[in-house]
Amino acid sequence: MAKAKSVYECTECGEKHTKWQGKCNGCGSWNSLIEVVEEPIAKVSGANRVNALNQQSQVVNLDQISAQDVERNVTNIIELDRVLGGGLALGSVILLGGDPGIGKSTLLLQTLAHIAQKNKVLYVTGEESVQQVALRAKRLEVKSHPNLRLMSEIRLETILPQIDIEKPDVVVIDSIQTVYSDQLQSAPGSVAQVRECSSMLTRLAKGRQIIVILVGHVTKDGSIAGPRVLEHIVDTVLYFEGEQHSNFRMLRSVKNRFGAVNELGIFAMTDKGLREVSNPSALFLSSYRHEIPGSCILVSEEGTRPLLVEVQALVDQSHVMPAKRLAVGMDGYRLSLLIAIMQRHLGIQLYDQDIFLNIVGGVKIAEPALDLAVVLAIISSYKNKPLPDKLAVCGEIGLSGEIRTIQKGQDRIKEAAKLGFARVIVPKANLPKEPLKGVELIAVDNLVEVVNYCFH
Ligand SMILES: Nc1ncnc2c1ncn2[C@@H]1O[C@H](COP(=O)(O)OP(=O)(O)OP(=O)(O)O)[C@@H](O)[C@H]1O
Ligand SMILES: [Mg+2]
Ligand SMILES: [Zn+2]
Repeated sequence: MAKAKSVYECTECGEKHTKWQGKCNGCGSWNSLIEVVEEPIAKVSGANRVNALNQQSQVVNLDQISAQDVERNVTNIIELDRVLGGGLALGSVILLGGDPGIGKSTLLLQTLAHIAQKNKVLYVTGEESVQQVALRAKRLEVKSHPNLRLMSEIRLETILPQIDIEKPDVVVIDSIQTVYSDQLQSAPGSVAQVRECSSMLTRLAKGRQIIVILVGHVTKDGSIAGPRVLEHIVDTVLYFEGEQHSNFRMLRSVKNRFGAVNELGIFAMTDKGLREVSNPSALFLSSYRHEIPGSCILVSEEGTRPLLVEVQALVDQSHVMPAKRLAVGMDGYRLSLLIAIMQRHLGIQLYDQDIFLNIVGGVKIAEPALDLAVVLAIISSYKNKPLPDKLAVCGEIGLSGEIRTIQKGQDRIKEAAKLGFARVIVPKANLPKEPLKGVELIAVDNLVEVVNYCFH
């Protein structure tokens, strides 16, 4: 292939420049130029990129298209399959992001070993030598299999022909930031390279109905490094997260064209690799001690599965102004909002109190049903009084102190009952019609009712 010319395109206005410069001639913005491939690839990357998705460019009616359910390749790692929405969808591109050393390569090697029992897989590593991969495989007790093929390579123009030869069903690129294309002069990992390489690989996946999994580095603020468009190009974005000092790892889908988002898969990192955690609630509560002030159990619903987690608060007289606020596992602004609601509707003055909040086990909870647990943990610590024994709660709090309806109330109540909780506080509208054996349900309408029940 003749070497294509590259030009510098403004990410703000699209103006093209023959050489890199700090300021765009078109719109005047600074540092917005990135290298892109001009003819003939530019034509491909424009029109054909879309065509790859749909070979026949005819206008049709819906009933003229045979719409079968997408075929999936089940990995047999239940936690992973659930996060993906039932397995890897054929022809899909999956981006797996996560902090350095969190276990991305481990997860993928274990996954490939499972898939290799039935299908052909190719693991392309740009970060490690094949020896390093073999060492890891040995530790994980992953045995050699004719279907499991490995390659250490970072040049896209070498990887693509190898895929042609090997004809794998699943390709893993570990990582997309190390791969580069000859077509561009930019260094591997640059916005231009990541964009071009990932769209080439995407075209390949769509064209041949193979599954491509890209590993992506994350930046300091936790988002995947490289262009934002990367997340648009791919079908599924997964994040692998966990705390530095805990061996729990959580796999979360933040975008999925083939399944629900915010589904959570839970693993434990052991010396033999990642082990699935099938009963996460029991595990998150394993260190929970009853009758401790500042602790409240939340029945959360992450994706399609209820999950019980402990919310801990520490409230203490502040010696600085403004008082400190720290939230781990939840949004800090939400915490401030809840504190304001408590001050206004419960008359609890917290402006001179330091408030620290932690969701135990390193889980991040973003759903609104968390509100009630946060407020109760804070009041419990503030009053230095434990909450009633065997109590679990869920509920969103509105700005006027009302407790708002949440999703999947039934599921949550059942999970709490299953784990031996004797009472559950739920929003009034979530109260089931039939009483549940063994659990007392406390239906609440506003914050005052909740506090009266818990701290009478
Ligand atoms: N002998 C061991 N026993 C237990 N855990 C280990 C052992 N060796 C490695 N690990 C775990 O595996 C993790 C590294 O996993 P892995 O290399 O898959 O991560 P990664 O996300 O691919 O990292 P990178 O960003 O460097 O590619 C280590 O942080 C550690 O937790
Ligand atoms: Mg790795
Ligand atoms: Zn511009």
